[in-house]
Amino acid sequence: GRTGALNGKHILVTAGPTHEPIDPVRYIANRSSGRQGYAIAGALAALGAKVTLVSGPVTLATPPGVTRVDVETAQQMADTVTSALPADAAVMVAAVGDWRAETAVQKLKKGDTPPSLALSENPDILALLAHGPHRPGLVVGFAAETEKVIEHATAKRTRKGADWIVANDVSGDVMGGEANAVHLVTADGVESWERLPKGEVARRLASRIADALTTAPKD
Ligand code: C5P
Repeated sequence: GRTGALNGKHILVTAGPTHEPIDPVRYIANRSSGRQGYAIAGALAALGAKVTLVSGPVTLATPPGVTRVDVETAQQMADTVTSALPADAAVMVAAVGDWRAETAVQKLKKGDTPPSLALSENPDILALLAHGPHRPGLVVGFAAETEKVIEHATAKRTRKGADWIVANDVSGDVMGGEANAVHLVTADGVESWERLPKGEVARRLASRIADALTTAPKD
């Protein structure tokens, strides 16, 4: 990517897992490390973009030049993304919890029967953003799949209203790991990239985003 290619562009990135509280000491989470999202935020900033990184709970350092807003739950992530608009592009890398539990005010106590969790669905931040009134010009989603990776990602692109879906096969050691094998699914078709370090996936994607934002026709 060219230095300064994203100067003056505001790009929103979500990363990490969400924590959905069960009671004051327990939560539902997932295995996302936030590494791929943080790498993307850093790569976009390195090309000159003003990056807002909305992050779930992770143990990573904020990449240079990135403005980070920490959240815990999917609902907080949705609200923070909405307040950060407008943006020229959005890259939704977070592994957002699909469900939340009703949070007990006091710590649940062990008893005769284990408690059951009544789950409700969380907002789909990507779909809301893509179908919303302040839609960024380029909306990129991720799809972590364990089977029929391209088929599921292609369907997801249309259903969620994203321009691109970066599909990755997480049946191996991708979540929490160092490398990633991804397919870039766009309206033009599918591009499969070789297995690359997450930093390299980030730089290539940032470079593609710079191309799209600087060659796309302006309204
Ligand atoms: O449906 P699925 O969770 O596989 O979709 C993944 C994509 O959607 C990712 O880009 C993720 O960040 C986004 N997503 C979201 N809000 C949700 C669920 C997923 O933004 N509640």
